Amino acid sequence: MSEVKQLCYLGFGVSDLDAWRDVGTRLLGLVEGRELAGGGFTLRHDEYANRFFVTPDPSDDLLFVGLEVADADAVAALGERLAAHGVDSTPLDDATIAARQVEGGISFQEPGGVRFEAVYGPAKAGAFSSPVCTGGFKTGDLGLGHFVLRADDMDTTLDFLLNGLGFRLSDRIICDIGGYHVNIAFTHCNPRHHSIAVGGNLPKHIHHFMLEANEIDDVGKCWDRIVDAGLPVWNAIGRHPNDRMISFYAETPSGFQFEYGWGGLEILNDDEWNTFVYDRISDWGHEHPAAMCKKLFRRQKESS
Ligand SMILES: [Fe+2]
Repeated sequence: MSEVKQLCYLGFGVSDLDAWRDVGTRLLGLVEGRELAGGGFTLRHDEYANRFFVTPDPSDDLLFVGLEVADADAVAALGERLAAHGVDSTPLDDATIAARQVEGGISFQEPGGVRFEAVYGPAKAGAFSSPVCTGGFKTGDLGLGHFVLRADDMDTTLDFLLNGLGFRLSDRIICDIGGYHVNIAFTHCNPRHHSIAVGGNLPKHIHHFMLEANEIDDVGKCWDRIVDAGLPVWNAIGRHPNDRMISFYAETPSGFQFEYGWGGLEILNDDEWNTFVYDRISDWGHEHPAAMCKKLFRRQKESS
């Protein structure tokens, strides 16, 4: 199994810090952590001091990914595993260690060029409480949530995750939706069904990140806030067949999406886990609002 214990943090480069502050806190229920020296801020969603680094950058994309390992020995072991896989890693410099508020770690690149960091000793900031997502978020040993990384070459990126990082394959979804070919592989490093998924044909390095609420009411309440705020919704509430998550998808101020969900499946025993290839992305729902409205209005028109 991987030395990686969990997805620890994500770093975004954003062009509109104020919009991110508003969406992150008022709509998503995250809580501001601290202002960053080079501009930007961090957001929390549990006791960890830094789960999201939101920094000024015109890319509006994923800049770096933090993976937590147990200690310095685990960092060294992961470095050796990566080296055996042909991936060079470098110790984090003092400035990065201070900026991330970790005790130490290494950095390396995934095949698509995104900076990955494996760190130990991330700072904690005490009990978490959100005035918006009152039931809190499901994290703990499961980590931040998950995100979908762009794979320019699926085999290469999946090989990096499985053999470079030691993640395990959860399952895959391969299907066509309205002429668009979907090919996603889901990987895990702890019982969370997936911490990192990889998909092709994506304009940015990240398709979406997922926040898992402890209570389904908080998903519904977030849905109301998103709709009221007029944030672009990509998929209304639905349920995935593989991780069983009930969720919806909307757009961040940077154009990539977030998923807000509840009820994700956990893989508790890898030895008994069967890896399926699913031929659909959702068991129900997850329809684009425009398509949904078109159907509703047509039916209402027909019945009037
Ligand atoms: Fe997701």
